[in-house]
Amino acid sequence: MNIDAIRQEIPALATCTYLNTAGIGPSPRAVTDTIVSLYRQVEAESPDLMARHLEEFTRMDETRRAVAAHWLVDPDEVALLRSTAEGFNLIGHGLRFRPGDEIISCVQDHPAARAIWTVMARRYGVIVRHFDLHHDRDAGAVLEDLQSQVSARTRLISVSHVTSENGFKVPVRELADLAHSVGARLILDGTQAVGQDRYPLAQMGVDFYVAGFYKWALGPFGTGAMYVRRERLGEIEPALVGAGGTARFDAATAAFEPDPTSRRFEFGARPYPLYPAMAAGLAFVDRAPLAEIAERSLGLADRLRQQVAGEPGVIDFTPVHRSLRTGMVGLAVRGMPGAELCNRLRADGFIMRDNRGPAGIGGVRVCCAFFNTEAEMDRLASAVRSVARASAGVAAIR
Ligand SMILES: Cc1ncc(COP(=O)(O)O)c(C=O)c1O
Repeated sequence: MNIDAIRQEIPALATCTYLNTAGIGPSPRAVTDTIVSLYRQVEAESPDLMARHLEEFTRMDETRRAVAAHWLVDPDEVALLRSTAEGFNLIGHGLRFRPGDEIISCVQDHPAARAIWTVMARRYGVIVRHFDLHHDRDAGAVLEDLQSQVSARTRLISVSHVTSENGFKVPVRELADLAHSVGARLILDGTQAVGQDRYPLAQMGVDFYVAGFYKWALGPFGTGAMYVRRERLGEIEPALVGAGGTARFDAATAAFEPDPTSRRFEFGARPYPLYPAMAAGLAFVDRAPLAEIAERSLGLADRLRQQVAGEPGVIDFTPVHRSLRTGMVGLAVRGMPGAELCNRLRADGFIMRDNRGPAGIGGVRVCCAFFNTEAEMDRLASAVRSVARASAGVAAIR
């Protein structure tokens, strides 16, 4: 992998030390060029290029096929989305819940994957149980915790494949087996997973997988995709509907027949130029073998962590077990609010985000993407050590 050449293709990397790919991925030139050229085409040729929904222009089928090839699933099992929350809402409103049904949801999940379960609780009397992915857990402890919560009433286990706080990667196959053992379904939020590694969803036993593609997959903001296992399609009523997504629509009665594939979930006007651009982002990360990308990210993360390990005042809340780690690192400085640590590091040119951390003080989330460099990790480690020492010095004087 020629990292210098890759970095040349991502213009933002020339202007800052970008460590917030879990917030939004920096666009490769090919992504922005695709968007610009398609909007220019509409401007130059005809505005109704957008409204005629022709594959020659929208390339929705082509993008669906690219996503399906990436996940090793069938294109008919893929719907293109605008956001993660859209996918969770489609599944939540589409499943038919009864009072007393139970959903198990993870406290580290993003609101995009959680708020909908509160709606289901209010509307249908569903009971939502919560579990915690503490950073020192191993896969066995995670499963034990969930095992103690599932029952014949469980309808759904809902969790991030990789959490946004510190990149905790859950053991998917085991979770799917557990859900299926009580007749429940597994829905994963793959937003922080897609683009970090390659995941064969059908083989992993997932029922529903929803992912934003504008982070590690380097697509444009406001794009995503959802996988619905073919056998589960009939369990989800199309509940968010409009023009599109139908095989037939009766103008006299508004009766409609949903599209027989996951395309039934794509309703309403879509920002078409963003989807070929999303495919361009995926092609960019897919070009380097993704297993190599994942190893490189883990290596960069390890390098950073080793350099702050043992530094008094620095707390590392990255997942302890390597098989559950990704390219994300959670760091805190004892006694310092996460926002303050984040601002100090930003003042030194490190773009990152503050984060919920252990002991309620918060910390920062460092994203070690494959295009980041060893030198960036070394400079950040040194900056974190300096902040921790200065903070300890101030505390000592007080
Ligand atoms: C795990 C996870 N899910 C979802 C989102 C965002 O969801 P949406 O695209 O609906 O805004 C984020 C980050 O912003 C995230 O980290």
